[in-house]
Amino acid sequence: MTKTYKNIVILTGAGISAESGLATFRSSDGLWNNHRVEDVATIEAFYRNPNVVHDFYNSMRPEMQQVKPNAAHTAITKLQQFYPADISVVTQNVDILHEKAGNKNVFHIHGQINQIVCLNCGNVFETWNDVSAQDVCPQCHKKGYLKPNIVFFGENLLYMNHVDSLLQSCDLFISIGTSGVVYPAAGFVQTAKFFGAESYEFNMEKTSNNILFDHHIYGPAGTTFPKFVENLLSHSDIG
Ligand code: OAD
Repeated sequence: MTKTYKNIVILTGAGISAESGLATFRSSDGLWNNHRVEDVATIEAFYRNPNVVHDFYNSMRPEMQQVKPNAAHTAITKLQQFYPADISVVTQNVDILHEKAGNKNVFHIHGQINQIVCLNCGNVFETWNDVSAQDVCPQCHKKGYLKPNIVFFGENLLYMNHVDSLLQSCDLFISIGTSGVVYPAAGFVQTAKFFGAESYEFNMEKTSNNILFDHHIYGPAGTTFPKFVENLLSHSDIG
């Protein structure tokens, strides 16, 4: 790791927030073991029974409002402050721990827990309060169109054109804490590699798309990633 990279993309998943205390999706005590994806995270479920879906995300907001970023999030801030490259964070997480840690250039491709979108007028607004199908959009004043600004299965991801161009121009692609089973994010490494990037995977364990990565660093990201950042900073041509 002696070369200096110019464009870095960091893809994050629920595993980077695990050491802050947030549940991941697919661990034994994860969200998808206690809830059926079909009931709370598909666009069909939302149309069928919006208040069940609203209640699920309403119940997540208080914890997500309070949690604090961990050492992996703050290591990204340090990298962005001191490493001489353009560094973007593409996150599948709906928590806002990257922002709380001071990360810049963060793209929430699966949306944000503290945002609501109106399906009638497209208005996106922030709130930590509970929302229901009875609520009215503050912009178009219509009732029944408010949806958590979370990308459900069956919907398009956010910021994809920009993310595609980031992937095509990066020379270092880093994945932290994602199981690599949900596409298209699971395929980002392939795009980055195709366009010439070197790739690193940080995870607790081997993932299902692990063969796509050039390097693997196993262990808790709050320990492994800050070490990696120190190493990158000590080998770059800074200044
Ligand atoms: P998963 O729950 O599928 O995977 C979390 C990954 O983090 C696993 O591979 C764990 O091994 C790893 N992990 C756990 N703790 C870690 C730690 N301390 N350090 C490093 N790695 C750790 O979560 P995602 O991959 O984020 O989408 O799931 C992808 C998408 O599936 C989510 O964004 C969500 C879900 O359906 C939506 O809700 C739209």
